Amino acid sequence: MHILITGAAGFIGQLLARELLNDPSHRVILTDIHQPPIPEGVKYPQNATTVKGDLLTAANEIVDKSLDAVYAFHGIMSSGSEINFDLGMSVNIDATRNLLDALRHTCPGVRVIYSSSQAVYGQPLPEVVTDSVIPTPESSYGAEKIVCETLVNEYTRRKFITGFSLRFPTISVRAGAPTAAASSFLSGLIREPLNGQECIIPIEDRSFKSWLCSPKTLVHNLLLTLQLPADSVPLHIRQINVPGICVTVQDMMDALEKIGGKDKLALLKEKEDPAFVPILRSWPTQFDNTQAISLGYKRDESFEQAVLDYKESL
Ligand SMILES: NC(=O)c1ccc[n+]([C@@H]2O[C@H](COP(=O)([O-])OP(=O)(O)OC[C@H]3O[C@@H](n4cnc5c(N)ncnc54)[C@H](O)[C@@H]3O)[C@@H](O)[C@H]2O)c1
Repeated sequence: MHILITGAAGFIGQLLARELLNDPSHRVILTDIHQPPIPEGVKYPQNATTVKGDLLTAANEIVDKSLDAVYAFHGIMSSGSEINFDLGMSVNIDATRNLLDALRHTCPGVRVIYSSSQAVYGQPLPEVVTDSVIPTPESSYGAEKIVCETLVNEYTRRKFITGFSLRFPTISVRAGAPTAAASSFLSGLIREPLNGQECIIPIEDRSFKSWLCSPKTLVHNLLLTLQLPADSVPLHIRQINVPGICVTVQDMMDALEKIGGKDKLALLKEKEDPAFVPILRSWPTQFDNTQAISLGYKRDESFEQAVLDYKESL
């Protein structure tokens, strides 16, 4: 397949590019506002092309009429969109609409896998969120994601594209540096201590629950969406709550202790951040993933396994 990845210099873009470029059957265009690297050590680097460009201004030049599928990963994360409202709106909404329009005119019907988020939900929420709960975001980021989900639904209903909006759980354990996401500490509290560094946990509540998915499981679910029959969800309801597991801060500390050693716990500092707490507390902590599981999406076996996978990847 000929596949475009936007936001390809970012974490998930690089993760997926690595997988696609280890399979000889794909050609991949990596695009980002920063020059996207071709992941090191892939089996078929010759199947990748890279394009540095801003989707706000150059979407038409980036898309290609031979595309079979597009993973839309570009974006400004949750605390970034909260700090800079205009930047969040322009990248998360305007650039996405530009991309969808460019695709609609250049390669009509193309499969578009849009990266949405559990942040589309806000309080009040039931203990377990089902697909029928109405999203009421409490962040600019969540509001921008729900606008784009609506665009994906509408462009699909009009048969301009074949869209799917995947509402990702928080991805953990994420490699690399801390990010502007309010959820950044949910990877940092494993990653930084394993690297001998301190991590500040911005919420002083070890029973605080999060809905998480490992990078490995996310990649499985992203690849599955490439093959999902177009009619597996209704034409005007393209959003899918991707499976996750519910993990408390204490569960994460226990996994760190078990896999990294007790001494690593000393590198965790709990210090409430009033800017982050309302965003964190607005997110759901548990979902009913019956629909996604029936479509073939997977969930992690345990958070401990995700930590082990991360440690082995170092
Ligand atoms: N990582 C998670 O836990 C998580 C959870 C839910 C949803 N998501 C969504 O998945 C997607 C990918 O996440 P990620 O963790 O890889 O993010 P990331 O921040 O690592 O990557 C996003 C990329 O978008 C690029 N970008 C920003 N503005 C751009 C523009 N105008 N034109 C082109 N590219 C631009 C950035 O340079 C960056 O490389 C995002 O849309 C995010 O909202 C991620």
